[in-house]
Parts: sequence; structure tokens; C-alpha cells
Amino acid sequence: MSGLQTEGRGISGTLLEVTDLRTHFPTERGVVRAVDGVSFTLERGKTLGVVGESGSGKTVLSRSIMGLLSPRTTILTGSVKFAGEELLGRSAKQMRNVWGSEMAMIFQDPMTSLNPLMKIGKQITEPLKIHLDMPADEAKATAVRLMRDVRIPEPEKRLEQYPYELSGGMRQRVMIAIALACGPTMLFADEPTTALDVTVQAQILELIGEQQRDRNMSVILVTHDLGVVAGHTDEIAVMYGGRLVEKAPTTELFANMKMPYTEALLQSIPRLDQASHTRLTTIPGRPPDLVNPPKGCRFAPRCAYARDRCLEEEPTLTPAEGPGHVFACFYPVGSDEYHERKAELAQRSQTSGVAAGTGSEGGL
Ligand SMILES: Nc1ncnc2c1ncn2[C@@H]1O[C@H](COP(=O)(O)OP(=O)(O)OP(=O)(O)O)[C@@H](O)[C@H]1O
Ligand SMILES: [Mg+2]
Repeated sequence: MSGLQTEGRGISGTLLEVTDLRTHFPTERGVVRAVDGVSFTLERGKTLGVVGESGSGKTVLSRSIMGLLSPRTTILTGSVKFAGEELLGRSAKQMRNVWGSEMAMIFQDPMTSLNPLMKIGKQITEPLKIHLDMPADEAKATAVRLMRDVRIPEPEKRLEQYPYELSGGMRQRVMIAIALACGPTMLFADEPTTALDVTVQAQILELIGEQQRDRNMSVILVTHDLGVVAGHTDEIAVMYGGRLVEKAPTTELFANMKMPYTEALLQSIPRLDQASHTRLTTIPGRPPDLVNPPKGCRFAPRCAYARDRCLEEEPTLTPAEGPGHVFACFYPVGSDEYHERKAELAQRSQTSGVAAGTGSEGGL
């Protein structure tokens, strides 16, 4: 673990390197390929937004990287290198040194992840005592400081309260305080704000951003909120059917998105400087069956721009012109074929009165 402790604290360079990660769940219906060959890297101190339809594998990806899935029900292959060390294949016992002190997670619903029967104070001090061997007094003082950091008023009083005595926003702040307690280098935030009202959402995101800058943490932020991805990420990864289909720096992605899926998902482009809290667009048609994914591009059956090749051959991630931008599509947004099809669709909609850009078989 020494490598993690020293390398993980560096200020620049790659922190996380995921290569050909596959998370398969054997079920009665067959093997669910929830994550199916995902590769990416994340630099220290950066935020990667992960977007994609419901069921595209965002949560399973985060949990796989953190090693939170049971090896009894999951087949995990590939590689997850964190601060240069391989995490895949480690037992829960070995991972316990990493959880909390190196990687932490904020879950969507703080009510289910906080222990309802344990006082707030104990829930924050426990990891400090376990991971950092802190004596009780010091752990309590640290808990108070952490609660101040996440702007919980009257922290001394809150220490003695139970989760049900706190509002949703305060509970989420407690979750963040617990996640930050041992100074992790990497934070996973899976829809951290969906249960909260808009003003509190903005405060929590600001808080995560502030803590991230102060601590040079890397963050993986899973969200359905377009304003959040636009305003609070350095890079965006787009997932579809267990695959990563496009990734780019945030401004580059909004300016030059290549996948028709990304275009459909991020259709109502928000202002980059303002969280608009618009949900990602719902795309007509059904996500792919992860037991029997379609041949070719997994999005092709729903893509208005798909051609024969897309149904036969699967596109691999290839670099776009913009730096750090990769995408998996044969006929990307902006290509001659894309424009040709767009013109056809516009023509068709004029004659049939259907909205332009909408495919005939439940496409975009
Ligand atoms: N333990 C499991 N056994 C079988 N299938 C699973 C298991 N866990 C997740 N899945 C399946 O894996 C796929 C990906 O699920 P995941 O929860 O990662 O989606 P998601 O992108 O996080 O969706 P959402 O936006 O709704 O949170 C889904 O089809 C889900 O049903
Ligand atoms: Mg999820």
C-alpha cells in the first residue's frame, strides 16, 4: 500500500487508469454485460462527468472501480490501476485500506447510506479512528472541523443528533463530510444531488468543487443533469449499453460532439457558466439488451443516421480532431453522410409533417 500513499498524493499526472474493464453478472436469463470493455484515464485533481441513459452502466462502472461488487455474483476482468497499483482482484479485506482513505463515494440517497441508528458524530469519527488510528478527542475535533468545512451549522450540536433529525441537504453534507474524512484522493459522486432541491443542489456541487480544489482530489461525477455536467466537469464520458462511446474535455464535447447518441442526449445545450438543471433528453426507443447486445454499433437500431455498416460492424473509439476527444461512430455529427441523412430527414418531415431530425423507426 506504500505506493498508494506516496504516489496517490502527487499533484499532477494520471491517478486512475481503467483498461478494458468488463463487469458481467451471470443471471438466469444469461450473462448481463453491464460494463463491457471500458477504458479511460483520469488525471489528478480533475472531474470526469459520466453521462448516459438509465441502465447504461454508470453505477456499475463506479462500483467496479471501487471494488464494491461481490466476487460471488460478479465476473470482473480488465485492469483498474489507481496511483500505479492494480486494484482488480483484491479482496474486500485488502480494499479496506483503500476505501475511505484513498477512494470514497457519495451515494444518491443519504438516508439509505447513513446508519439511522447511529449518531452523526459517531458516523464521522468512526472512519477516522479505523483508517487513521486517531484517538477519540482528535477524531471529534476533526469531525467538527469537517462539518464546518461542509457548512453544517452548529456542528457540536449536530454530532449528537441522528440522521432523521436533519434535512435532506444536511444529510448529504454529512455524507460528504464522511467521504472527505480520511482525505481521499478520489471521490465518486453518483447522482449526489438528485434527491435535493435546486438551491441545495447548487450548494452541494459548489462544496464538492471547493473541497476538490483544496485537496487536489479527482472526482467522478455521475449525473443526469445537463447543467451539472456542463458547469462542474473538466471532461465528460458518455456511456451507452455498457460501453464508453465518446469522451472529451467538456467545452470540446459541447462544441464538437461526434456521436449522434451524445447529440441526442445533450440536445438542449445549457450555458456552460450556469447550472440550468435540465435533465438529459430522453431518447425514443429502447436501450440495448445487455444479455444479447445487437451486432454492430449498439446504438444503431435507434440511430436516425445509421447505415448498413453500423448494423454489421462495431465502431471502436477513435481520436477526433480536438485534443483528448475520442468517439465510436462511423458517420459522426458533421460528416458528409450525417449531413446527407439530415437533409433527407428534413425533406421527409416536410412532406409528412413530422418534426425534423426524428428518425422513422423511433430514432433520434
Ligand atoms: N447485480 C446485478 N445483476 C444483474 N444485473 C445488474 C446488476 N446490477 C446492475 N445490473 C444491470 O446492469 C445495467 C447497468 O446498471 P447501472 O445501475 O450501472 O445503470 P446506470 O447507468 O447507473 O443507470 P441509472 O442512471 O438508472 O442509475 C442495468 O441493466 C442493470 O439492470
Ligand atoms: Mg446509476
